[in-house]
Amino acid sequence: MWMTPDLPVLDPQERLLCGPGPTNVDPAVLDAMRKPMLGHLDPDLHEILLDVVDMLRRTWRSRDGLVLPLHCTGTAGMEAGIANLVEPGDTVVVGVCGYFGRRIAEIARRYGANVVEVEADWGESIPNQRLLAELDRHPEARLLAIVHAETSTGIEHPLAELAEAMAGCSALLMADCVTSFGGVELETGAWGVDYAYSCTQKCLAAPPGMSPIAVSERALERIRSRRTPVPFSFDLLMLEQYWVERPAVYHHTAPILSIYALHEALRRTLDEGLEERWSRHSRAGLHLQAELEERGHELLAEPARRLAPLTAVRVPDGVDGKRVQQRMLREHGIEIGGGLGPAAPAMWRVGLMGCNATAETADRVVAALDTVLAEEPAPALA
Ligand SMILES: Cc1ncc(COP(=O)(O)O)c(C=O)c1O
Repeated sequence: MWMTPDLPVLDPQERLLCGPGPTNVDPAVLDAMRKPMLGHLDPDLHEILLDVVDMLRRTWRSRDGLVLPLHCTGTAGMEAGIANLVEPGDTVVVGVCGYFGRRIAEIARRYGANVVEVEADWGESIPNQRLLAELDRHPEARLLAIVHAETSTGIEHPLAELAEAMAGCSALLMADCVTSFGGVELETGAWGVDYAYSCTQKCLAAPPGMSPIAVSERALERIRSRRTPVPFSFDLLMLEQYWVERPAVYHHTAPILSIYALHEALRRTLDEGLEERWSRHSRAGLHLQAELEERGHELLAEPARRLAPLTAVRVPDGVDGKRVQQRMLREHGIEIGGGLGPAAPAMWRVGLMGCNATAETADRVVAALDTVLAEEPAPALA
């Protein structure tokens, strides 16, 4: 017989999640997850799916093509884009100025692409002229991929200008909008982004687990004319039959409660108003950045390209950055991030996303950081 004397009780502590994501879940979104479960083939659920698609289209500002949430991580949303738009031997140009650009390049290589990387140092953005020059050098390129909001460095790429310059180009444009969707100005339709993907755990303030995507009509044409099949789980045309076409056709069992969460997160995003939400994130990020610089901290991202929802701060010389992060968590209940991957310079990454995109939250983080640093054996800041 199994003895079950002391089974652990689930008891996570409250945290203020101000790292690179996930962010705290909006309480209304958590409440939505307690609503009655429907089956994945229930016609009432299929109506809810259509509402989600409609709200997603408005949030992406998408005009045509296919919009839906994949039931997967942001990384898998990235991979789904490559899996659908790239075939072995295709040339893909990838902008790499941090961890996530490098990940796109790695995934594209695994799908047999001939990858042309256009690099910039951590903290710098890649000039669009350099990306466009590679497209000129590689007229056979099928796809150009860029990270709109590089969470590993705090850089916002000028995506609108890139998309405008690529108008009429045969290569499709794929954008990683994981940290920009719902928090930074983004108009996939008007700008002409062909494949955009995001996640639920950042500016939407929902739990992790889904990856909203927007696919242009041009990209769908590309998918329809593929020579090789796409992996079953990423087959967007089959997923369209469940999410959009009616009667809905089974593809896999949908994560019903995550769909409720996304429904509520989108409703709240649109209710706030996209412009207002972008501007709230911008105000909060600018406030945090000003407070940090006033204290002599050095920000990693070049000033003209700073991202609002995520600020990367260089760890001052002689300070143990990881220890500071631990103390922020243990003594103040605040999570901030560190550098991502072995190539990253020593940094802290502070996220103000979703409900946390406020000056008050920024002030709480800065006050805790002041307290911790004052007690650390560290040289004075410049
Ligand atoms: C810019 C960017 N792209 C992709 C991802 C991957 O998302 P996930 O961790 O959900 O797989 C992240 C995660 O932080 C990210 O910030």
